[in-house]
Amino acid sequence: MKSSDVIIIGAGIIGLSLGISLRRRGLRVLIVERGEPGREASSAAAGMLAGSGSEIPAALRVLAVASARMYPEFVHELEDESGMTVDLREFGTILISAKSEFPEAARRLSFEQLQELDPGLAGLSLPEGRPALHRSSQDVAIAYLSERSVDPRELVAAAIKAARHREVDFASGHEVRGVLLEGGRAAGVETANAKYSAGTIVNCAGAWAGSFGPVELPVRPVKGQMLSLIGGPPIRHVVRGDQVYLVPRSHGQVVVGSTLEDAGYDRRTDVNTIKNLLHAALELAPGLAAARIHEDWAGLRPGTPDELPILSESSIPGYFVATGHYRDGILLAPVTAQVMTDVITGNPPAHDLDAFAASRFSQLAMLP
Ligand code: GLY
Repeated sequence: MKSSDVIIIGAGIIGLSLGISLRRRGLRVLIVERGEPGREASSAAAGMLAGSGSEIPAALRVLAVASARMYPEFVHELEDESGMTVDLREFGTILISAKSEFPEAARRLSFEQLQELDPGLAGLSLPEGRPALHRSSQDVAIAYLSERSVDPRELVAAAIKAARHREVDFASGHEVRGVLLEGGRAAGVETANAKYSAGTIVNCAGAWAGSFGPVELPVRPVKGQMLSLIGGPPIRHVVRGDQVYLVPRSHGQVVVGSTLEDAGYDRRTDVNTIKNLLHAALELAPGLAAARIHEDWAGLRPGTPDELPILSESSIPGYFVATGHYRDGILLAPVTAQVMTDVITGNPPAHDLDAFAASRFSQLAMLP
């Protein structure tokens, strides 16, 4: 049986980042992945690094802000170790809302300021010269937020290469059937075709984290359908509207997302949903009518009952959990790698993790 110090279940951005971090501490790491590394939610994500956004649950804000601050160095290290480049954009986010409720850190903008900041978005490039938002600018409020965005596919590709460069091992193509125990402690994992031994196991299996024992985890897939456009007016900023968000990439695509669907493990897209996303995107930026549809896809976010991640040791010594990042897995990868490396190596974590204990769900189940 192949032996390592740590086995990580799941080669998404959480498992990869943690694997690299533990390897930097000198531990021998094996990542076991049911499919292909990085191909599930991590590659489907939009990549908004919304650390200060109001949509982040209050209990998660400290971790979100910390992780957003870590991003430039996190990306720089992955680029260095992989020799690849990762599209990390610093233009910031434009919020457009009929509700006028913005995070404290947001700066209100007039329509004229928006025109100056992002002419592509304001629609100045429309053939008839009609500002796109102008018609509705009486009804919506506009604000600017200093947040970055990243291309998750490039990030994941760099993380896989950096992990291999650091001699993190991978076993791909077979799902984990269960965690092996010895004397009540975690001792390895079993897949359909092999057993692997290690004294420390970390469940980073995203939406699949609850699909094997021995610990019950209430993680469920929350489907998000998305599409990308190409060839429209150049949009510089991430744009978040009430119905939809737009995330531009430096190669010219604009990602449009997303739905929140309870659809099990179905990753198909459907015409009506894509049409609705497109319709909402054109409401925000009518200039995108000049674009072509580049791609459509869906990803499965790992959702938990309280929409907070699980970052702790489980009730089984040596068996840890780092999953349930729901809509913020890309954002939270650096801080998750940092705090879980501390927890696993027996050091005090840099942040209070009480709200993220796996035990909170067994406590809930015991309530009358
Ligand atoms: N993080 C964006 C989403 O979940 O749609």
